[in-house]
Amino acid sequence: MQRINMAPLSSRGTGFFRTLLTRCRTPGPGQSRTPDRCRLSSLPSSPPPPGTWQQLSRLSHPDLYRLSVTDPDRFWGSAAADRLRWVEPFHRVRDCDLSSGRISWFVGGKLNVSVNCLDVHVEKHPDRVALIWERDEPGTEVKVTYRELLETTCRLANTLKSHGIQKGDRVAIYMPVSPLAVAAMLACARIGAVHTVVFAGFSSEALAGRIQDAGCKAVVTCNQGVRGARVIDLKSTVDAAVKSCPTVQHVFVSQRTQQPAAMGRLDVPLEEVMSRQSSVCPAEPLDSEDLLFLLYTSGSTGKPKGVVHTQAGYLLYTSLTHQYVFDYRDGDVFGCVADVGWITGHSYVVYGPLCNGATTVLFESTPVYPNPGRYWETVQRLRISQFYGAPTALRLLLKYDDSWVKKYDRSSLRTLGSVGEPINHEAWHWFHSVVGEGRCPLVDTWWQTETGGVCIAPRPAEEGAAIVPAMAMRPFFGIQPVLMGEKGEPLSGNSVSGALCISQPWPGMARSIYGDHQRFIDAYFKPYPGNYFTGDGAFRSEEGYYQITGRMDDVINVSGHRLGTAEIEDALDEHPAVPETAVIGIPHDIKGEVPFAFVVLKDDPGLDPPVVLQQLRNLVSTKIAKYAVPDHFLVVKRLPKTRSGKIMRRILRKVAMETTGDLGDVSTLDDPSVVKEIIEAHELYRKQKK
Ligand code: WTA
Repeated sequence: MQRINMAPLSSRGTGFFRTLLTRCRTPGPGQSRTPDRCRLSSLPSSPPPPGTWQQLSRLSHPDLYRLSVTDPDRFWGSAAADRLRWVEPFHRVRDCDLSSGRISWFVGGKLNVSVNCLDVHVEKHPDRVALIWERDEPGTEVKVTYRELLETTCRLANTLKSHGIQKGDRVAIYMPVSPLAVAAMLACARIGAVHTVVFAGFSSEALAGRIQDAGCKAVVTCNQGVRGARVIDLKSTVDAAVKSCPTVQHVFVSQRTQQPAAMGRLDVPLEEVMSRQSSVCPAEPLDSEDLLFLLYTSGSTGKPKGVVHTQAGYLLYTSLTHQYVFDYRDGDVFGCVADVGWITGHSYVVYGPLCNGATTVLFESTPVYPNPGRYWETVQRLRISQFYGAPTALRLLLKYDDSWVKKYDRSSLRTLGSVGEPINHEAWHWFHSVVGEGRCPLVDTWWQTETGGVCIAPRPAEEGAAIVPAMAMRPFFGIQPVLMGEKGEPLSGNSVSGALCISQPWPGMARSIYGDHQRFIDAYFKPYPGNYFTGDGAFRSEEGYYQITGRMDDVINVSGHRLGTAEIEDALDEHPAVPETAVIGIPHDIKGEVPFAFVVLKDDPGLDPPVVLQQLRNLVSTKIAKYAVPDHFLVVKRLPKTRSGKIMRRILRKVAMETTGDLGDVSTLDDPSVVKEIIEAHELYRKQKK
């Protein structure tokens, strides 16, 4: 078993925090009763005295929910005061105005997220396992205790500091899920630097775009990644990216494999430098609203947006949802198999579980390596209590014989969870009855990069509450969903469908889009003034439960990865022989959705369409990532457009899904004959594919 470079056990370091960190104090007389500026609330917003969360948490779930929406200040204030450790207490629970995108929680408070995720647990149980790194090769897992993780984080934080990284500087992390990736995130949090983790499957150009937008001063990466026994060169991708990133002063390179990486002018050998650093690093006291991280995600325009999350509100929201949605209890081994490159990895591999002192699993491999039993063999070996994954993997696995599940002992499992895309009934029932033997509650959790944590999900800890299959069901504490009708009016009553909005702020919500606050307001708060618009549609059932019906914009979900069709179009449009393209998503039985590209080629007899199409595939792969490459390309002469020049994607969707029997209203088309042309091209394409 290869050990990673984790710091040796030591008992130094905790004394400092004993003096630096004080419990949240009861507000002084001058600090209380600050007028509340949150919409629709006239309640005082001074923090409640410490200890009240202990009392509140004994309430039933329906009572807690009621309190969270009728008296959010008391609910969130006592949760924050009691559950987090503060350097300075906050003096106001919230100061929010959704119409102008002003969102501020726990105003005036100072704390450090890494202290809340590490030091507080090291004081109580230093030798508890914080991370189990389930490496690619089964049976080679590495366990990292809270003390070891704190020391590694401090060494990494000191390394960053000694290379000039300071509070507020942005640091890109381009690493697969690993203890060092987690330590890099926490090291940034410790010194007040802002991390932006970029999924290690993104291309060098996609990485460069994110580094440039964020103005990153440093990149943390490793020489190679290993997944499903395949070795992936990461360092060379970073090398190509940083060529066009003048802000990058250092690239810290860790060694995941024995293969030495070619080191250049900017490169710093991470393990070597870290080993010379102290394992103690003072934690920077940070304002509740200082930036914690940026995470780039796709919207309906071509350019990914850097979603901004801040300190206290995000941490509190992830910790509370981690506990209540998954029924997490002390001593559980929490298994979220997401990559740290996505929000699920941030909130439920790293911040939520670590804030709760959990043992969290870092899954490096794939669901089918070395065979389709991998997840369940891992559950058996690590004694996993909660298993949280994506429907796309379940749809893949259920095609294999159930013996791949049943031969492993899953008696440690208590809660199952699904995230990232709608879960179909077949996958839900297979997960529930085959994997969970019908005895584990299965929670379909709806949320987004922008929401920070789960917003709608059944709560299994709620006594006697039945779970409706394949439904996200209930809003989490503090979440007030509203469905909006076509004219922007809130829909009342049940058995209605509409645009899913959230009418009140909550602590975990995004604060901005990095460098473009106006875009933040325009995308989320303009469509339904005063409400957060999710971009999703939903149905409220007869019982008042929520069912997500899918995106209402041009965002698609490929294998649980969010993608803007405009991003793919922008990549395709770079080809000189391609004047125009339109990309839509169509259903796929394993991936959920796949991109389908309609491509107009230049009228040039010298063009060889198959060659151009291959070049287009390569373009998407180098500009975005391999998973973004469309499964289908259909060459057409023209695209269906309205008289004002807008592409009618609705028609393209119908053609691609072969539902042209009902084309709907085509009277606004500039030239309706284009539809026949495209249908014929598609029929020919289908025949050729067969
Ligand atoms: C979709 C992932 C249906 C939704 C945490 C949302 C879901 C987008 C579900 C966010 C679910 C996520 N049921 N759809 N349980 N969970 N989605 O930002 O369209 O990567 O808007 O966050 O995924 O994707 P993101």
